[in-house]
Amino acid sequence: MFVVGGSAGVDIAKRVVDIFDEASLVSLKRKRFPDKEFYVRILDDLKGKDVVVIQTSYPDENLVELLITMDAVVEAGAKSLTVVLPYFSYSRQDKKFKEGEPVSARAVAKMVSVYADNVISIDPHKDYILDFFDAKTKCCSAVGVLADHLKSLDVDFVLAPDKGALERAKSAAGIIGCDFDYMQKTRIDGNTVEIKPKQLEAKGKTVAIIDDIISTGGTMAKSIAELKRQGAKKVIVSCTHGLFIGQALEKLKSAGCDEIIATDTILSNYSKVSCAPCIVDALKDLL
Ligand code: R5P
Repeated sequence: MFVVGGSAGVDIAKRVVDIFDEASLVSLKRKRFPDKEFYVRILDDLKGKDVVVIQTSYPDENLVELLITMDAVVEAGAKSLTVVLPYFSYSRQDKKFKEGEPVSARAVAKMVSVYADNVISIDPHKDYILDFFDAKTKCCSAVGVLADHLKSLDVDFVLAPDKGALERAKSAAGIIGCDFDYMQKTRIDGNTVEIKPKQLEAKGKTVAIIDDIISTGGTMAKSIAELKRQGAKKVIVSCTHGLFIGQALEKLKSAGCDEIIATDTILSNYSKVSCAPCIVDALKDLL
């Protein structure tokens, strides 16, 4: 199996090749033309081979790079093309919320489906968005690798920032061997919404909040501030996809966050955990 690492996927691609004996990394020539358009040339012979392209489709320039790289793989005569989208961009616009809007996740999926036979994505915002692909799909989760990391941090309980994310907190807690809960929102009056753990007391505890995405940091910051108000000893935030838009990191820190943990689906200084083992398992399953 031959693995192509796009510029927003090359670190994961190298890790995948390191732990998967049957995989080797494809040599590429990659550059931007003076007008910033993307250029790629595959330097290995991929004729008749099973090829995997790993590339996060965020931000938009990485989506274009993915499309062009897939075209190069098909031109090179690959037998099959599996695309790994560590972070599937536009996944939160997964339905038409208002009249006149697109289903952006479907638009991205259709573009990728023009070339891909198989698609693997990690913690997509909702599992059903993988149905937008015409290709065969496989969803994998970073909860296991995040929980393994959290295990060493003496976490008392894992918290989901809302009820919708409870399953994720439950699986992480199962691996760590601790309690779990979610932040419950209660409307007090027209202007006030109270948010606090549904059952557990944070006082004196080390709490790890787990979510799929941290974008502006607003969701996490509210939870952190409440946990600190309740006297939590330590609040750790963890997520699969750390977008950290704008002032997100400052927001988390000023809310009282003690530690930030993200994976390498989007590389940052907080990518403390790699998704490569989950991708290798998914590839073994799929291929
Ligand atoms: C929401 O459904 C997601 O799971 C995340 O909680 C949300 O996207 C995080 O966004 P932000 O960091 O901007 O609050």
